[in-house]
Amino acid sequence: MTDGMLPDFLDDAAVAAWAASGAPLVDLLRQARTQGRLTGFRRGGRAAVLVTDPRDVHQVLGVGGDRYVKRSHRARPLIGDGMLTATGEAWRSQRRLLQAMFTGRGIQRWEHHIAAAADRVVGRWAERARRGEPTDIAEDVQFFTVDTIWRSLTDQPLDQETYVDLAAVQDIVAALPADVGGAAALPPEVETALAALDERMHRAIGEARGRRTADRDAHGHGDPVNGPSVLDRLLGAAETDPAYTDRLIRDELVTLLVAGYESSARTLTWAFVLLDRHPEVMERAAGDARAVEAVLSETLRLYPTGWLLPRQAVADETLDGRRIPAGTDLLVCPYLTHRDPEVWPDPEAFVPERFPVRTPLPPGAYLPFGIGPRACLGTRFAMREMEVLLGGLLARFTVETTEPVGEPVFGINLRPAGPLYARVRERT
Ligand code: HEM
Repeated sequence: MTDGMLPDFLDDAAVAAWAASGAPLVDLLRQARTQGRLTGFRRGGRAAVLVTDPRDVHQVLGVGGDRYVKRSHRARPLIGDGMLTATGEAWRSQRRLLQAMFTGRGIQRWEHHIAAAADRVVGRWAERARRGEPTDIAEDVQFFTVDTIWRSLTDQPLDQETYVDLAAVQDIVAALPADVGGAAALPPEVETALAALDERMHRAIGEARGRRTADRDAHGHGDPVNGPSVLDRLLGAAETDPAYTDRLIRDELVTLLVAGYESSARTLTWAFVLLDRHPEVMERAAGDARAVEAVLSETLRLYPTGWLLPRQAVADETLDGRRIPAGTDLLVCPYLTHRDPEVWPDPEAFVPERFPVRTPLPPGAYLPFGIGPRACLGTRFAMREMEVLLGGLLARFTVETTEPVGEPVFGINLRPAGPLYARVRERT
């Protein structure tokens, strides 16, 4: 055990008062933050320490990324042993297999999928504009992000029935017990949704395998002409690596679906919420790709959908001169880090002109996609799909919300509550 002082801890009575009030976790974290650079709290016999200072964030997720591990994920019953929950060598080899498809030139293979999915939303908005009917932006952008990820996984466009089965993952996650090991029976409708999702995945695996065999018979190899889909890549791996059972392939597909659609959909929704409050920014961004990119970066600063990234110290550690005993939970909180007035002047204000940043930020100061070895696999994919859709919609339509925007919900993801109804009009 290292010598030295423990971090400061909130008074247990303050934690009990917070728990009794039913207030969201972010309120307790805000309290912890006012106490100093590294403050913790105890709940149910467990110690958790809030980590928001960029130097400490960099230490926990970046340089010390192997020593602070992910605790078993709440969504594990849904996503199984996929890349988000896997650790050690299994995680490394899973990540290696797909990395090149999502970085560098690898992401070019998704351009035609993203464009086709964006065209569908533009078409839907054109129809709404013609009829003078409001649209639900939250739903439209969600259909888009499920469509892009499904096309990338399977090379197939999304149909409405598949969409319903896939988008049910958020209800499944919400119904899972919050505490790992809480083996409560799932409500019957959630069991049904899970069964429908599994069937959908296994059917996609079977069909892709069938296409591979047909392609091999025709061309002598199993990958489609314009490069393999994610599913093709996984099936290819299964031919030489027995670790890739149909179960693991299913887990990886569901993982990419869960990790890949909700964050992008919520970010796009937040962008429209912010633009609605700042019509002058909306006008500037219409037809200007760089301005659209800046809007998205600033949206991700104010509303990083991955607002809380929990880790656990495997062994005794020292952080900022304080002793972190093995087993302590460390709560990295990009939401609070991104509102640090020392890094971001007037941090609560929506100012896309902050991006691209002129002077390099301290490491750990801006992390909507995480940092270190477990940073987001889909960063480039997500930015590209969001730029294409937001840019395409702003260039052609004006947007005005018709109902008040819901409050932020700090769940697994950070999202605005409820739908986002808006009237869209063709620019003249
Ligand atoms: C705006 C959109 C997105 C945001 C804000 C986002 C954010 C994040 C964050 C913060 C993490 C790290 C979690 C942690 O350290 O605990 C992460 C991990 C991950 N993301 Fe994303 N993500 C987005 C879109 C996507 C997309 C489109 C994909 C898939 C194509 C994806 C796939 C993944 C995967 C597989 C991981 C786990 C990586 C690993 O553990 O090795 N994400 N994402």
